[in-house]
Formats: sequence, C-alpha cells, structure tokens
Amino acid sequence: MLFQRLLLISFFRCIFLYTANWTVEYIRGNPDGYYRVITTINNQSTPGPTIEVYENEIVDIHLHNKLSTETVSVHWHGMHQTQKTGWMDGVPYVTMYPVAPGEVFHYQFQARQIGTHWYHSHAGVQYPDGVFGAIIVKDKNDLYTNKIKTDYTVILNDWYHHDAIELGAELADNVHPDYFPEYVSGLMNGKGRYNCSTQEIQSLICVPNHEYQLYNVELNQIYRFRIISAASGHTFNFSIDNHDLTIIAMDGIYVEPFVVQRLKLYVAQRYDILVTMNQPIANYWIRATIFDSQVIKGILHYANAPDSVDPTSQPSEPKTVLINSMQLSPTVHIQYNESDPFEQWVLNFTCRNDSYKCEINGVQFGLPNKPTLLSMYEKDEKHKAQTHIIEVPTNTNVRLILNNLGSMSHPFHIHGHDFYVLGIGDAYFDHPHPFDNDTKKLRFNNPPKRDTEQINEYSWMVLQFYSNNPGSWFFHCHIDWHLEAGLALVINYKDGSSIEKPPNDYPIKTNYKQADAAAQQRKVNVIILLPVVIIILQLCLA
Ligand code: C2O
Repeated sequence: MLFQRLLLISFFRCIFLYTANWTVEYIRGNPDGYYRVITTINNQSTPGPTIEVYENEIVDIHLHNKLSTETVSVHWHGMHQTQKTGWMDGVPYVTMYPVAPGEVFHYQFQARQIGTHWYHSHAGVQYPDGVFGAIIVKDKNDLYTNKIKTDYTVILNDWYHHDAIELGAELADNVHPDYFPEYVSGLMNGKGRYNCSTQEIQSLICVPNHEYQLYNVELNQIYRFRIISAASGHTFNFSIDNHDLTIIAMDGIYVEPFVVQRLKLYVAQRYDILVTMNQPIANYWIRATIFDSQVIKGILHYANAPDSVDPTSQPSEPKTVLINSMQLSPTVHIQYNESDPFEQWVLNFTCRNDSYKCEINGVQFGLPNKPTLLSMYEKDEKHKAQTHIIEVPTNTNVRLILNNLGSMSHPFHIHGHDFYVLGIGDAYFDHPHPFDNDTKKLRFNNPPKRDTEQINEYSWMVLQFYSNNPGSWFFHCHIDWHLEAGLALVINYKDGSSIEKPPNDYPIKTNYKQADAAAQQRKVNVIILLPVVIIILQLCLA
C-alpha cells in the first residue's frame, strides 16, 4: 500500500512540476511605503509566486477566489494554449466564465514556450491591483546556462494608491488625454520607494525610505536578467548605470545578441539580457524610467561594495537604444516569400477624445454573455454574434494591418500564437498615416517574432501569424485601461471542430453581476421606500 502511494507520488512529481493552491484575497500592504488594500495570491503581497518549470512540464494550479465582490480569472501570458487546453487561457467570456467569489477553478496546461513569460488576472482591471507574477520556462538546451553565474528576474509595474476600479471610474468620468491614470509610483519585484513627504501623508499610512530591490553580483561574472513589464499603462526605459545590456531574447524568442545601453519596454513585453560585471566594485542604480523625474529604482550590489548605502552612480547618455523589435533578428531564421498567399484584415482603430471609448473598425469591444470558445464548441451562432469576432481559416498566413487613427500608442497582444512583426511605421504628431500597401516597407527576411508589440500614434504596424492553433483567441491593446474601453477583438478559427470538450469543473455562468445589481436595487428600494412608508403611516395615524 505504502509502496503504491510512494510510486504514485513520485509519478505525479515527474509530470506535474508546478503544482499549487492559490488563494486570491485582499490584504493591506505597503510595497512602496504607502499602505493600501492590494489583491494578492496566497497572502504574500505583490507580485505573486514565480512559476518555474522546464519546457513541456505541466503547470497545475487550483485557484480559489476569496474576494467577496470580484470575479477572478488568470491568463498565462506567453503560453500558447491548444485546441485541448484553450479553456485554460483565462479570458473571461472568451475562453471561460470567470471564477465567482467562493469558487475554485483547476488550471492545468503544458508549458511549451520556453523563456520569460508572466501571468496576470484577465478579469476587468484587476491585475494593476497586484494579481500578476513571473512564469519562467527553462530551456533544456539553453545556450547561456554555462556562461552565466545566476538568473535574475526583474518584474516592473506601475503602482497606484487607489484601486483599479476607482481609477477606471475616474477615467470614464473625466477622460485623461492618455486614457490611463497618471503615474503615482512603481515597483521592481514588488518593492518601491514612494516619496511620502510629497503629500500630507502621516507616517501611519506611508513609511518613508522603503527598501529597494537588491541584486547581488560578483566582479567579472555574467548574469542573465529576465525583465518583464507587468505595467498597466506606462512604458519603461530600462538601464543599469555604467553597464551594457546584451539582449538575447524577446517574449521568449532567442535573438542574435544586440548590445544597448537602454531599452524600451512596452506594456506586457519581456526581454532577457546578459550583463557583465566589469565595472569598479560599487553599488549601481538599475533604472526603469518613465519620465525624467519618475524612475523605478533597484540596486546592483557588487560583492565587497559597501552595504546599505544608496548608489551614487549617474545615468549616462546611451550610445544605442532599443526602440522596438525591428532592431532585432530571431536566431531561428525564417524567410517569407512575398508571393506566399495570405489572408488580410485591415483594422482601423482609435480611442475617442470625447469619451472613454475605443473602437476597431467602428466597433467598441464588449463581452458577450457566453464565452466565444464555448459558443464555437457548441456551434451556437446566436451568442457568437454578440461580440466583435474575425474568423480565420486554418493553416493560413493571416496578415493584420493595423492603422492607428488616434494620438495614443498601443501595445497589441495576441493570444494562442506569436506573430511576426513585418513592419512598424514611425510616430506622427499631426494626422493619421495608415499603411499605404507598399510592401517594400515590410521585412520578409527574418522578421522579429513575439507576442506583444507597440504601434505608434497616427501610424501603422503590420503583423502576420500562421493559423495552426484552432480556438478562440483574444487580440487586444495590453494597456488595461484601453482594453476596458474596448480596444480588442476575438480571432476565431472558422473550423472549430477539433476543439476538445471543456474540463469537468468548467465554471458555470453565475448571475454574479445580475445578482449584485439586484442586491444594489433592493438596497435602493429600502432606502427610498422606507421613509415613504413611515410618512404614509404617520399621515394615517394623524
Ligand atoms: Cu497579457 Cu490578454 O493578456
């Protein structure tokens, strides 16, 4: 008996390399010094636990929603779910019903994409409140493991002192020109230092001189830093004072090494960099700069440098800056033929200046009543028609021509695939410059491949992916506030017949929103009706 159990345990250990119970709940915390309510996984502030596995291992997580008033659903950003596991993609009303308060959902999938990825809540604007973390899928044939001393993870996010629902409501009421809240603070691996003296803040709610994230390094060693933007609105300019950064991967795709002194990291993107510790023994600032005065800082601490002393290093003018992926070349070479057949979609979009509303081809994305993947599986045309869907054939090159008709730039992300970035137009400041169909502006020879790239304001971007993964996949701007305003659509495969059935514990539709609205209404009725009844009673008795 015991032997059988041991055998069973070791068998499961071999297959499920990351198994966990996650509880999503509210706690009070002060990651940057300032106390607020944050939404956490397993009570451990933000970010949540790191998932670290080797390629093709299974991730197995029971997610318990202990939030009293919010649904939850987690997306594994960078993991391509399949026709079997599309149900695990974690997008409410696209792949699943969200997990209602008090409910549990069992996520299980194979981590097939090596490299640096992340997970985040995909329910409403929930991840900016803290529900995100790193996914590191280790490559068994990693070219760099022997060269480096250690692997470090750097998760960066913008951080607010009001919760995301409040911030979203403020945006909707009083449209900010950028459509996202103004920068307040930021975190590196969940640590930041808010300047408590800038406001009438008492020490009770803001602890000054909060600790910085520290990376211990040794002279002359090489380290890999896996940088993840878990931001909800802002772009980071990443640099380490006095050190070169050698980019070796983007969104999990290896690239030919490219040396820069600064790199731009748009919302949801990842870069792996190598850094050689070849400077005098000291402490150096690691910076994620938003604007000059708004910098998220961490410390690079050389062994034998003074402890607990802030660096005095200064940023220097970079010789080379990474602006976008067009500067990089994947190591696995691909050559497109211009004459290869493809199916093309032109997507013209803008966020309006007079309301909190973004539209693609004139449609503001709204969630349907039933997940689009379920409608696809059940061949339910009625529910499918409720939202903005484009339908693509299987095994085809699908080209998306994005024309940004507005003054904001947008990081677009595709689920279930990587795309090739064939071209990105320059930023303009006056009026839209849509793609003019000049294919000479596109790169067919070894274009960059990734899952998130930024389109400039008033400009264009051409993306292409190969449709070999039947399912229902979200495609959207990853600025969470723009997504909430409707800058999204669903890419459905025309032929969904290979989609396998949903898991047994697939969440059922709860009338959570309706129940909540009804409870509110009852409250209003009581508040209004009670005084009326009392007045009538008083009149009758008089
Ligand atoms: Cu990070 Cu819909 O994605």
